[in-house]
Amino acid sequence: MWGVLSTANIGRKLVNPAIAKSANGTLHAVASRDGAKAEAFARAGGFATSHGSYEALLADPAVQAVYIPLPNSLHHRWTIAAAEAGKDVLCEKPLALTAADCRAMAAAARATGVLLMEAFMYRFHPRTERMIALVHGGVLGAPRAIRSTFSFRLASPANIRFDLALGGGALMDVGCYCVNVSRTLAGAEPVEVIATANWNASGVDTELTGILRFASGLVAHFDCALTLERSERVEVSGAQGRLVSEGAFVANADGVLLSEYKGGTATAHEFPGVDQYQRMVEHFAAQALARRAGRPASVRYGPEEATANLAVIEALLRSARAGGRPEPVVP
Ligand SMILES: NC(=O)c1ccc[n+]([C@@H]2O[C@H](COP(=O)([O-])OP(=O)(O)OC[C@H]3O[C@@H](n4cnc5c(N)ncnc54)[C@H](OP(=O)(O)O)[C@@H]3O)[C@@H](O)[C@H]2O)c1
Repeated sequence: MWGVLSTANIGRKLVNPAIAKSANGTLHAVASRDGAKAEAFARAGGFATSHGSYEALLADPAVQAVYIPLPNSLHHRWTIAAAEAGKDVLCEKPLALTAADCRAMAAAARATGVLLMEAFMYRFHPRTERMIALVHGGVLGAPRAIRSTFSFRLASPANIRFDLALGGGALMDVGCYCVNVSRTLAGAEPVEVIATANWNASGVDTELTGILRFASGLVAHFDCALTLERSERVEVSGAQGRLVSEGAFVANADGVLLSEYKGGTATAHEFPGVDQYQRMVEHFAAQALARRAGRPASVRYGPEEATANLAVIEALLRSARAGGRPEPVVP
């Protein structure tokens, strides 16, 4: 039985419907700061009930797991509150604004025995799984270059992504995917980063370009933006080939390709359309149900993984704010 903290757009459009059609979960309750809004949202979205505050949802004994799609600055506070209420927590990306906050969230989950996972849904797409397996299986030789991008154009200046106090910015919102896929494909943590950014008047990075240097000599570079035509792409190269994933992150419903290039020959790996959000919530619910039944349970991507991602994001922001000075990644 799921509870959803807020009437966020991402919940309404993609994650709540994925929970509703999942094989092992039920949309039980939604909470909003405004009770009437919660009630209308519950009716329209197929929830059994609603609550007029986040606290009330966490006190609902029928809620076993919560999905948290709050503004980034609120992930830390409400994840800890949910863990203390004994709920398993699937929280939106980025899990927090700092690695230190992630560590505190992980500690709260450990202390209360609940599960905590960051909702990076793209990792549950079979194409992403295949890309990771091929690279780690050595099909390209050792990866030497990873190029990624995630940009889109935000229409409303009132969007939470333009507000520094709410944890906005291109890097926090979409660059976090590029950092995540780079670290995952590398199978290692970068030792040093460099970044340059353009900022809005409130101090949010609207466009950011970053370089991640790994001890092996592998370099990953990426760009992200809240101001540009939509682009989502990942390319990884080694001496023996390269793989390209177009529309790499938000792929949903339609079939997709993973293109492999080796010695002048192209191979297209085809994947039928899947709902990667559904695959993510089903994985999480299966582990949460196992935990509640007293069976061994663990999520595929734990909070330590999210902590490492945030350490890189923090170093990139330090570098961009210092005009592109190389910054070490503090593990
Ligand atoms: N994985 C993905 O594909 C994906 C896609 C988009 C976004 N996200 C993530 O999901 C989260 C939410 O993004 P979104 O675009 O869906 O957000 P959104 O539509 O702006 O919704 C955020 C919700 O948070 C609640 N809230 C509480 N305090 C708030 C405050 N001070 N200001 C604004 N809202 C406040 C509001 O709900 P109530 O009024 O009901 O309390 C609001 O509806 C972010 O962490 C984002 O990174 C993930």
